[in-house]
Amino acid sequence: MPASPPVSPPVSVLFVCLGNICRSPQAEGIFRHMVRELQLHERVHIDSAGTAAYHTGEAPDPRTRATSARRGVPLQHAARPFQVADFDRFDHILAMDRHNLAALVEQARHPQDRSKLRLLRTLDPTADDLSVPDPYYGGAHGFDHVFDVCWAGCAGLLREICAQNAWDYRDVPRL
Ligand code: 4NP
Repeated sequence: MPASPPVSPPVSVLFVCLGNICRSPQAEGIFRHMVRELQLHERVHIDSAGTAAYHTGEAPDPRTRATSARRGVPLQHAARPFQVADFDRFDHILAMDRHNLAALVEQARHPQDRSKLRLLRTLDPTADDLSVPDPYYGGAHGFDHVFDVCWAGCAGLLREICAQNAWDYRDVPRL
């Protein structure tokens, strides 16, 4: 019997914000959508977490859920705090803003941990600002903006991961 072709190990991606109820579950949902559209869902493991534990166990903020569902990406996630062990579980750890990134850098145990950390918006060549703005205390428009900004970052991330793994990439139609 011929040997099965080697299976590339799954790539793992973690999105991190402060509360894990607005920005990072939004990025997680968008990235899941893109990965599924490209039929890569068995090769990419995706999750999100918060640098704070205030909202542990909660569903995404109702405003995030409403915006995302209206744009065609229903969300399902229970908030959880980031753990140091996530450095061992994930290849790519994408922070939503500089405060989240600083909190993660502080928890990194060695240079290999630190090398996994980036701001999501550094993957978007059109980004004018490198932070995904926190919509929590703002109005409804902020949630649509977060969706758009996360979409652009996720598209750049997926393009990079496909190039690194020699997987076919195509732009997923914008929702
Ligand atoms: P997130 O937004 O970090 O995008 O989930 C926030 C959620 C909760 C709070 C702040 C930001 N909070 O202060 O409870």
